[in-house]
Amino acid sequence: MCGIVGYIGGGSAKRIIIDGLKRLEYRGYDSSGIALAANGRIAVEKTVGRIAALEDRMAGMDLDGHAGIGHTRWATHGAPSDANAHPHTSADGEIAIVHNGIIENYLELREWLSGEHGVPFRSETDSEVVAHLIRLYYEGDLLDAVFRAVGRMRGAYAIGAMAASEPDRIVAVRKDAPLIAGLGEDCNFLASDIPALLKYARTIYLLENNETVLVTRNEVSIFNERREKVKRDVYHVTWDADAAEKGGHDHFMIKEIYEQPKGISDTMGRRLGADGGIRLDGISLARRELERIERVYIVACGTAYHAGLVGKYAIERLAGMPVEVDVASEFRYREPFVNDRTLFICISQSGETLDTLEALREAKRRGARALSVVNVVGSSVARESDDVFYTWAGPEIAVASTKAYTTQLVCMYLLALYMGRELGRLGDGEYARLVDELGRAPGRIESILAQEKRVQEIAKKIYRSEQVFFIGRGPDASVALEGSLKLKEISYINSFAIAAGELKHGTIALIEQDTLVIALATQSRLAGKLLSNIEEVKARGARVISLAMEGDANVERQSDETIFIPRCADEVAPLLAVVPLQLLAYHIAKLRGCDIDKPKNLAKSVTVE
Ligand code: AGP
Repeated sequence: MCGIVGYIGGGSAKRIIIDGLKRLEYRGYDSSGIALAANGRIAVEKTVGRIAALEDRMAGMDLDGHAGIGHTRWATHGAPSDANAHPHTSADGEIAIVHNGIIENYLELREWLSGEHGVPFRSETDSEVVAHLIRLYYEGDLLDAVFRAVGRMRGAYAIGAMAASEPDRIVAVRKDAPLIAGLGEDCNFLASDIPALLKYARTIYLLENNETVLVTRNEVSIFNERREKVKRDVYHVTWDADAAEKGGHDHFMIKEIYEQPKGISDTMGRRLGADGGIRLDGISLARRELERIERVYIVACGTAYHAGLVGKYAIERLAGMPVEVDVASEFRYREPFVNDRTLFICISQSGETLDTLEALREAKRRGARALSVVNVVGSSVARESDDVFYTWAGPEIAVASTKAYTTQLVCMYLLALYMGRELGRLGDGEYARLVDELGRAPGRIESILAQEKRVQEIAKKIYRSEQVFFIGRGPDASVALEGSLKLKEISYINSFAIAAGELKHGTIALIEQDTLVIALATQSRLAGKLLSNIEEVKARGARVISLAMEGDANVERQSDETIFIPRCADEVAPLLAVVPLQLLAYHIAKLRGCDIDKPKNLAKSVTVE
């Protein structure tokens, strides 16, 4: 996600802001920029690429000054480019802003500003509207102009703003996107995250939602929505820089596990309209186009493939369309039935997995329409697809994919619901029920995360295991694959996932005294069958840890340990069921002393065949 740094004080704003931006590089970004205010004007430099490229650009800046704002951009609207990089400025250069988040009503604001006020837009971003909106209301008081502009905006945003006529202040706003203020020696700061200012300030204000902050060299004042000054206790940061990058967590993986509720909310956010409709970000899949589609192919690798398997259940069940799912490395060497009546969906967190990219190219060569579900804006898969349906998980740093997977599932569900409704195969009641279930997922995942200690206790009992079997039926069989991959790739335990009904066709020969079996039992309509499978393995001495819906006494009775997830519809259970498995894998790997964020032999993006 984007990073913001603001500085005002006696030192060199240029150097201190660049320092801070470098501390935010771990968050992932594709471009960066800086605005410096002095002598009645604002100088801006910004560029696509690494911060080193920005420093090269800045060498030519004829202005340093003691006040400025900087930004690292993680693209959501508009591909990575110099024009789309922040800071954005008003047409006359009076106002400069940096923004992290999504302005949901940016299109209507953009149309209004350009139509009614003749404002010229120079980027594809949602963020640019903020600079023009503040400028429209600016009459010499930046704080007032920001208050008035924010009153017109909807969405999630952390904004930093400066005015050329007031070089001694920075105004910032926080709503559903992180922002803090730092109190330094003869200087003050703004930042998206603690690492950016840790070198200069360990006393900070943690801003709350809908708060606006006025930062000058000697003072930081916080205001609520009614423009009343609020008193705020300072927070003293005791973390070291490394811990700070992980938000106080021990690893990026656990941080990203905890970011899932927000990632899911952001990915659903603007796509679930207040009218209950689903907007596919301009992807045209009208009824007549959908009726032409004979079959859907979902192709991906690893965790993304596992998300595709869940997508298959959802699209077949909700849209009544035949779906084939394949790993990209196999798809390319088959003779797949792909033609111009195929909807080819490829899923990729990085958008750079070569197997997936080549499969996409093969499908397009055969005439398929290519829709990709990608987390990195402007990545190769995104660029080469006909349509892109982005996950908004934010940068995923840990090699083991977690928040990308759950946001990929959300995209699968949204596509399935949209297609089912367009094709008239999903009744209004069923549609509304499932949309409601999706909306409840972030809160339900929060309650699962609150069980981390219990999962940790279970991990302590089993972390020495050298072999683990994951079993499940229906969508649980797909989640079992994902749970098994999480465990094997970070703990190096030989874990194996199998459809529970397949056990008796060979694999049960391996089950003996104390063999560890993790049984996923969230599918109410398959509960009886799964219970029989649990009994089968128990009869051969297995130790069974089950995952079940709250209150499922039958599973609990048959299992050695049971982890419960909040009751939810079978269809969306995978979105919840994977979370305890992620936590279990994490804690087992931690107890085994493994390098969790960078497991041996693995890369975050496999750009080779
Ligand atoms: C999952 O935890 C792994 N990191 C790996 O399986 C990954 O999902 C796979 O390489 C696909 O990557 P992509 O989503 O970036 O295409």
